[in-house]
Amino acid sequence: MLRQIHSLAGLISALLVMLIGLTGAVLSINPALERLAISVPAGVSVAELAGRVVRHYPGAEQIQRTASGTIIVYYSAGDVSGVDRVDPSSGMAIAPYAPPAYARWFKELHRSLFLDTPGSAAVGITALLMLLVSSSGLFLLLKRVGGWRQLARPLHGNRSQRWHAAVARFAVAGLLLSAVTGSYMSAATFSFISDGSQDEPDIPATTSGGTPLPAARLPALLATSLADLRELSFPLAGDSSAVYTLRIRQGDAYVDQSSGALLAFRAHSNVRESFELIYQLHTGEGLWWLGLILGLSALGAPWLAVTGIAVWWQRQRAKPRIANNSAPASADCVILVGSENNSTWGFARALHDALRQAGQRVHTAPMNQFSSRHNAARQLFILTATYGDGDAPACATHFLTNVAGIAPNQAASYAVLGFGDRQFPTFCQFAQEVDAAMAARGWRRSLELALIDRQSPQEFARWGSQVGALLGHELVLDYAPAHPHTHALQLRERIAYGEEEHDPTVVLRFIAAPLPASAGWLKSRLARHRLPRFEAGDLAGVMAPGSSMPRFYSLASGSGDGVLEICVRKQPGGVCSSYLYHLLPGDRIEAFIQPNPQFRPALGKAPVILIGAGTGIGPLAGFIRNNTGQHPMYLYWGGRHPDSDFLYEPELRNYLADRRLTQLHTAFSRVTNGVHVQTRLMEDADNMRRLIADDGQVLVCGSRAMAASVRQAMDQILAPLKLDVAALREKGRYREDVF
Ligand SMILES: Cc1cc2nc3c(=O)[nH]c(=O)nc-3n(C[C@H](O)[C@H](O)[C@H](O)COP(=O)(O)OP(=O)(O)OC[C@H]3O[C@@H](n4cnc5c(N)ncnc54)[C@H](O)[C@@H]3O)c2cc1C
Ligand SMILES: Cc1cc2nc3c(=O)[nH]c(=O)nc-3n(C[C@H](O)[C@H](O)[C@H](O)COP(=O)(O)O)c2cc1C
Repeated sequence: MLRQIHSLAGLISALLVMLIGLTGAVLSINPALERLAISVPAGVSVAELAGRVVRHYPGAEQIQRTASGTIIVYYSAGDVSGVDRVDPSSGMAIAPYAPPAYARWFKELHRSLFLDTPGSAAVGITALLMLLVSSSGLFLLLKRVGGWRQLARPLHGNRSQRWHAAVARFAVAGLLLSAVTGSYMSAATFSFISDGSQDEPDIPATTSGGTPLPAARLPALLATSLADLRELSFPLAGDSSAVYTLRIRQGDAYVDQSSGALLAFRAHSNVRESFELIYQLHTGEGLWWLGLILGLSALGAPWLAVTGIAVWWQRQRAKPRIANNSAPASADCVILVGSENNSTWGFARALHDALRQAGQRVHTAPMNQFSSRHNAARQLFILTATYGDGDAPACATHFLTNVAGIAPNQAASYAVLGFGDRQFPTFCQFAQEVDAAMAARGWRRSLELALIDRQSPQEFARWGSQVGALLGHELVLDYAPAHPHTHALQLRERIAYGEEEHDPTVVLRFIAAPLPASAGWLKSRLARHRLPRFEAGDLAGVMAPGSSMPRFYSLASGSGDGVLEICVRKQPGGVCSSYLYHLLPGDRIEAFIQPNPQFRPALGKAPVILIGAGTGIGPLAGFIRNNTGQHPMYLYWGGRHPDSDFLYEPELRNYLADRRLTQLHTAFSRVTNGVHVQTRLMEDADNMRRLIADDGQVLVCGSRAMAASVRQAMDQILAPLKLDVAALREKGRYREDVF
């Protein structure tokens, strides 16, 4: 919802925000330029200034002091009148005063787009929209990075998303201030709120009427500091009843021209003071440094508008499209989809089209949208993937809660089809949870839960024929998902461990494969070193030649490191691991990236406990390498023998030395009295409990057997804290990447 508000308000106001941002940035330089051009004398009274001015301008009518300290004199001499900027230390003219033409031009454009009242109204509405966009943007940003304390953490997402968030991070405070103050000032322009300017003192009915004293000797002016002056208007010459009008920071008053007494002083009301403060905060006048900060933030506005539109457009394009989607209330069949990377949508679309061809009215929607509106349909199909450690994909995270609140339709039935990958230990776990939750809530199951491994078209077609039998007509589901987009990589470096053993390990570092010579000089120059974007903890999918089934490898580097690094154990008889193990520098492979954003260390002060064995060290080493902020990180890792497979040993020693790694605990199993990593955890139980009590987060990577033993050990360690792995997992503080 918040995202929709942010996008809609941003899209509506984008053009005007760009214009107002740019003009605001230009205007913001003025206070600093003015401040540079003047020297402000200290300890001078208004009387002294008036005396100096009158010496050079006998016909002075008014002295003004701008917020930046510039002194301006309005005068007449005979028939001629003029305005000069004067030197406050001497009262002498510096130059005729005229605000720079460009500043007037930009001010007009900024305030009213040269369109008088309608223009001012448009600017006011834009300020309000900007307020909405910046405040919703701030909330989205905090949600994205995980709170105030994480505001500086590295950003995820594609290029536009990262740029949008990075500029927002720097500009949002300034933009919010400009938007709040701009909205307030617009409201005052249209008299929706008072600016307090009506609070002038009443003109005194009587004055002393004596012989006027020179301005330099008037007590009220002697008692007023030049620093407080806004404006001093001189009385009309020869009129003994006339008075000086004195406007100062604290209020407005009249001054008797012969006694020099302060008459009818009226202090500024709170309303007026607030308006002046807000005016100052908006323009930076008198606060040149704030003006520059606001100007820099305003420069971010066009950039935010452009990247924001790009992000919105990408999201629109990535949205799964379903043609001929019936309304939920009139549909015979409802298809609910849980998908992270969209491939399940392709299957859902195929089912949608086939059901329509069979004469059904079908409504297809993301699982999170499930509500009582979908209750009218006779048949509910739920197609969902599983992610992370058996979790829901992003568009299905609220589904189980929604189900709990919806009364089942006794005339309807449901069928769940799970999409997953048997390489993951929790194969289709979320689909299983969904199926069980529907049954527990009292929904009637029409088909047994079916699970599809690696998007198999054959398994999908088989399920289709069961659906056909259920509905009483033939249903052909002939759908094969497109292959993921792969990238050509070239092996640059290969570090082998335990070569004498029958299942050795190798660390492989790839770079983007150079284009063939036929691609031309320019193209190959531009394409050089262009790795796809990824982060340590994501997965590389590799298809060995002759095999259509990709294998996943956890990434030990981010694309920012300039290499794609994986750590592979050669499995006896294993197709892909053997293929990768035998690669030599210069060899090329094809790989695709599968993001795995759940498996990341939470940055901040809380300790990160990294636990792994064997090749599971890959992503953990990547996290430590990136820990340049020296946040507390503890590594517990198990290998076979320190002489043969101490993976990343030199790097880990360096990380300990430069404090990217706080502690290293190793466990070797093939030495005398060998132990596994879970033993080290048990030995260090007190430390572990302290780290967990300090909000520590646990990331486990490696084999399923190791992960199971670690879970058991952790449950025992956590018991005195009345905690267990399940409780930590629920809070996202225990994550596994196991295989
Ligand atoms: C999320 C995730 C992350 C992963 N990260 C890593 C990682 O960082 N490093 C890593 O090394 N692996 C990782 N894996 C495991 C990796 O994806 C592969 O499963 C592994 O490399 C084995 O693939 P393979 O093609 O060599 O074996 P396959 O050909 O798929 O065979 C699987 C197993 O069956 C056995 N087998 C196969 N054929 C025969 C045969 N003819 N005779 C006897 N036995 C046979 C082998 O023992 C082998 O272990 C990860 C897996 C997942 C799901
Ligand atoms: C990072 C990641 C984690 C995954 N975790 C699981 C899992 O725990 N269990 C499972 O069965 N499948 C898992 N899968 C496989 C996906 O569920 C499967 O590929 C699915 O078809 C993807 O559908 P989608 O493209 O619609 O999101 C995972 C895939 C990725 C990339």
